[in-house]
Amino acid sequence: MIEGLRTSPVSMDQEAYESWKDYRTRRYLTDPNQLRVMVRNPFQLTQHERASLLDKISRNNFVVYEYDLCQDDIHAAFEECQIEPEKTKSQIIDQHVIGQHGLSQKNDRLCPVSNRGYAHICRQLGLVDSIPNPESGPNDVTLVREINQTRGLHELDFPSDSPTENVDFKRYIPYTNKPLGWHTDGYYNSDKHIVRSFILHCERPAIFGGANELVDPEMIYFQLRDANPQWAEALTQPDVMAIPANRVDNRTLRREFRGPVFHTDPNTGYLYTRYTQRKRNIRWKTDTLTEAALEAMHQLLEEDNQWKIRIRLTSGQGIICNNVIHRRTAFSDNNANSDNRNPGAETATSSKRCLHRIRFGNRLPSTGVYPPLD
Ligand SMILES: [Fe+2]
Repeated sequence: MIEGLRTSPVSMDQEAYESWKDYRTRRYLTDPNQLRVMVRNPFQLTQHERASLLDKISRNNFVVYEYDLCQDDIHAAFEECQIEPEKTKSQIIDQHVIGQHGLSQKNDRLCPVSNRGYAHICRQLGLVDSIPNPESGPNDVTLVREINQTRGLHELDFPSDSPTENVDFKRYIPYTNKPLGWHTDGYYNSDKHIVRSFILHCERPAIFGGANELVDPEMIYFQLRDANPQWAEALTQPDVMAIPANRVDNRTLRREFRGPVFHTDPNTGYLYTRYTQRKRNIRWKTDTLTEAALEAMHQLLEEDNQWKIRIRLTSGQGIICNNVIHRRTAFSDNNANSDNRNPGAETATSSKRCLHRIRFGNRLPSTGVYPPLD
């Protein structure tokens, strides 16, 4: 049983609901600077660093870490640790990264050892159940960046249940530098591949733009339920969202999937949210109440909202979260003269924005987002 949880989040009585909401909103951090945790050695978190990361996650369901050491130091830190199993795993990650960059293994400048650290942070926080997709490699690492080649997938479009061989990737929108609307990762996945958490690590920021905005879905649930309890309830219908089957040449790459926006995850007991603002490849229920609920949720995400956090990651920073609702602004790697260049982008003038992502089937553990039991 989850600490403090008396009943399913979406069917709490008013008293329990008020207690849950009060607890969460009091502890939620609205200043991005309060969400940052400096990490001295990603290969070996200190007790304080680990506790701090988990504390922020218990407040917001997300946290921003930042490597607190330079490139030379991180090499030394890695060598110092000499943890053989982790070393093996990192080497696999490096091979994947090198493969995607088309680099030789000797090119340490573009494939620094610092890229190994984030996977170790995940492991030390208990994230071990990684989920692959057609663009990911060993250790299920995906490089999220603008791709000009035909074999590229939009991060929201891949057919999660499909075989990954012989798929015509031209059917899917390539990763672009365009804005990505509000969504949770893997909203189109069946319950077999449910994404409960992910890490997004920045190797290189864009020259301009490319900021992420995040909001804990529980905050949106509270606002929606307070505005009209029927709206919140409408979005718990098990067939409110339908992802149509994905068929190519008479082959079914993905069966139709239906699900709620908000529901209690039977595996964890926590509130789970599936959401996207995309209009393509999704069918919503069309009754009046559902449409009003979706419009209200859309407005909550679009308008000024105290619970939204905007973060522009720079090299060596990353986000770890329990799959919160997030979006990305457009970006450009064009090094034109402008005063609007992102902090940290000056070192990346000859390269493109590149983030690394690993999705997981398990939540971050020990995150008590419900009030303690009396
Ligand atoms: Fe995403």
